[in-house]
Amino acid sequence: MKPEEAKSTIEELTDKINYYNYMYYQQHKSEIPDYDFDKLLEDLLRLEQQFPQYRKEDSPTQRVGGHVSGEFPTAIHRFPMLSLANTYSKEEITEFDTRTKKQIQGQPEYICEQKYDGVALSITYENGILKKAVTRGDGLRGDDITHNAKTIRSLPLRIFADNLPEIFEVRGEVFLTLENFERINKEREDIGEPLLANPRNAASGTLKMQDSAIVAKRKLDCYIYSLLGENLPIQSHSEALELLKNWGFNVPDTWSKCHSIEEIMGYIEHWREKRFQLPVGTDGVVIKLNSFQQQNSLGYTAKSPRWAVAYKYKAESASSKLLSIEFQVGRTGAVTPVANLSPVSLAGTTVKRASLHNANEIKRLDLRLGDTVFVEKGGDIIPKVTGVDLTQRSLDFKPIEFISFCPECGTELIRREGEAVHYCPNDTLCPPQIKGRVEHFIQRKAMNIEGLGPETIVALYDKELVKDPADLYALTYDQLISLDRFGDKSAKNLLKGIEKSKEAPLRNVLFALGIRYVGITVADKLARHFENIDRLMSADFEELRSVPEIGEKIALSILDYFNTPEKQSFIDKLKEAGLNFSVDTSEQVKESNIFEGQSFVVSGVFQNFSRDNIKEKIENNGGRIISAVSSKADYLVAGDKMGPAKLDKATKLGVKIVSEEEFLEMLKK
Ligand code: IVH
Repeated sequence: MKPEEAKSTIEELTDKINYYNYMYYQQHKSEIPDYDFDKLLEDLLRLEQQFPQYRKEDSPTQRVGGHVSGEFPTAIHRFPMLSLANTYSKEEITEFDTRTKKQIQGQPEYICEQKYDGVALSITYENGILKKAVTRGDGLRGDDITHNAKTIRSLPLRIFADNLPEIFEVRGEVFLTLENFERINKEREDIGEPLLANPRNAASGTLKMQDSAIVAKRKLDCYIYSLLGENLPIQSHSEALELLKNWGFNVPDTWSKCHSIEEIMGYIEHWREKRFQLPVGTDGVVIKLNSFQQQNSLGYTAKSPRWAVAYKYKAESASSKLLSIEFQVGRTGAVTPVANLSPVSLAGTTVKRASLHNANEIKRLDLRLGDTVFVEKGGDIIPKVTGVDLTQRSLDFKPIEFISFCPECGTELIRREGEAVHYCPNDTLCPPQIKGRVEHFIQRKAMNIEGLGPETIVALYDKELVKDPADLYALTYDQLISLDRFGDKSAKNLLKGIEKSKEAPLRNVLFALGIRYVGITVADKLARHFENIDRLMSADFEELRSVPEIGEKIALSILDYFNTPEKQSFIDKLKEAGLNFSVDTSEQVKESNIFEGQSFVVSGVFQNFSRDNIKEKIENNGGRIISAVSSKADYLVAGDKMGPAKLDKATKLGVKIVSEEEFLEMLKK
C-alpha cells in the first residue's frame, strides 16, 4: 500500500472503530458483529505497525495496550487533587449541614453519591481527545499513566459532541468490578501466583503496571464524578454529571438530589445494604453542595473542600464462636486455614466460614479454639476474622497450631523462602492436587473437554481410573457407563469431547500442563517461540528468558517442571495419546522471511512498539531472538534507556546496532 493510501485508510478505520466503540460502550448498542469488528481492528493494527508515523492519537488499538514504559513520568496537576473530609458519625453530617446553611443563608441543595473504593485519576482532554491521565500522587503531582488509562474501555479516547471546551479535565475513580477481581484471582490461584488482597489494591497495582497489554487484560473500569476547566457551560455539580454522561463518560445513575438533612440520611440508609448489590466496592456516601457559586463561597481548607463531606459506613461486624479450623489443600498444594464459625448474620448473608489466609495471620490474631471472634464483611466479598474478644477467653482455650503434615496425603508440608503459605510438596499423589490438575487440564482455555464436571472427576479418581490428566485419554465406554449417574449419552458425549480435545493447539496444551506461573498468555508466547515441545524442553535459562514476557521466575519454574522425571513421563503419555505438541505452521502469522537466519537482541524502551511487539515482529519475519549480546547476535535493536554496557559490548563484537526507525526501514524492505 502507498503511504498516502495508508494514511487515509488509517484515518478512516480509526474513526469507524471509535464510532462503534462509542455506540457499544456509551450507548450500549451493538451495530456490527463482533467478528467484523475484530477484523477492522486487526486491519488497523497491521497498518499502524507498517506505518507507525500515521497512527492517530485517538487510535482504538491503544485499548489492547502494548506500550511498555520504563518508569512513569511525573506530571503536575493543573488543579490540585484534594481529598474529602471523612466521618463515620451522622452527627458530623448534621453539623456539616448546619454550617452550610449558615454560610449560604438558605436551604442548600445537595448531591449525594456513592463513594467508590478505587483509585483517583485525573484525565485531560484537548480538542476532544484524551491527552493525559495522571494519578493523584501527593495531590500536586502524580504519575503520568496515560497508556494504561487508554485501555479503560469506558473512557472515551475521543468525544463526539458539539461545543466542547477546548481543554478540560475529568476526575473519577478507577476500579475493578468485584466479578473481574474474582476472575483475576481465580486465574492467579490456578497458576500458583499469590492472590491480590482486595479490588482496590488490585486496581491501584494494575494502573501502575509497566506493560499496558497486561493492563488491558485486567479490564479496569472508571466512574467519572467531576469536571474541571475554565468557562464551562454549567453552574452546578448535577449539570456537570449530566453533561459528562452526555459526552459519553461512565457516570453511574446512583446519585440523587437532596434538599434536607432527612433526605441525606434517607440516602445513606437506602444504600447501607443495597450497595452490596453494586458491581463495584463502595465504602460510603459523598455529600456535595450542588451550586458552584455556593461551593466557591464555602471554599477549601488546605486539604479538602468545605462544600463536601464523606460519610463512611462502618464495616459491619458481628461476633461469633470459633468452632474449629479446617486446612484446605488446593490444586497447587497451597494449604489454606479456614475458620468454622457458629452461624451469624452479617450484611445480608449468614456467615459460617472465614478464610484465615495463612499461618502468619493465625499468629497475628493469636487465635485459640473456642474464642469469640469478630467477623467483618467490608467492601470485600469474603468475610474475615478481624480480632478476638479477649473478655470471653478462658484459660483453657488452646492456641492453634498450624499443621505440619498434609491433611489429605500425610506428606510433610514445606514453606518456601519468603512466602507465607505452606505447601504440600507431594504433587503427584496428593488427591486434591490430582483432582485440581484434572480440572485445570480440562478447562476451556486448556483442553476444553466438555461433559466432565467436578463430581465426575472425583468419581473417576475414586475408582482409580484417572490418576493424572493423561489417563483421561485411556477411558473406555464401559468404564464410564459404570459410573453413577452416567448414561449412554453422557458417556458418548464425554468420549467425543476427549477425542476432540486432541485438536487443541500447542498453546492450549502447554497451558493445560499446569506449569507454575504459566498462564495462557505465557503459554501462547512459548508456543510461538519454540513451535514444538521438544525445543521448549531443551531450552536453557537464557533462551527462555529471551522470549517475550518470560521473566526469571517463570523461566526457573519451566526448567524445574521439565527436569522432573514424573512430568517427563506425563508428557510422554500425552504424546502417545496424540495431543498436539507442535504448532501447525500454516496457522502462524508469518509475514515474510526477510530475517531468516539472523539473530536479534532487543533492548530498551521504544516509541511505536512495546519490546514484545518488536520481538514478535522479528519472529513473524523469520528472525530469531536471543537474550544477550554475544558473537551469535547479528543485530542489536536499541531503544531508549538502554544500558551503555550493552552498546559497548555490541560495538566491540561488531554486532550491528539499529535504532527503532532503522528497524522500521528494514521491515519495509
Ligand atoms: S469527589 C475534592 N466523589 O475519595 C475531592 N471522590 O477522599 C473530590 N472518591 O480522592 C473528590 N468516590 O478518589 C469524589 N463520588 C466521589 C468519590 C470520590 C470516591 C474518592 C476519590 C478521592 C477520595 C477523597
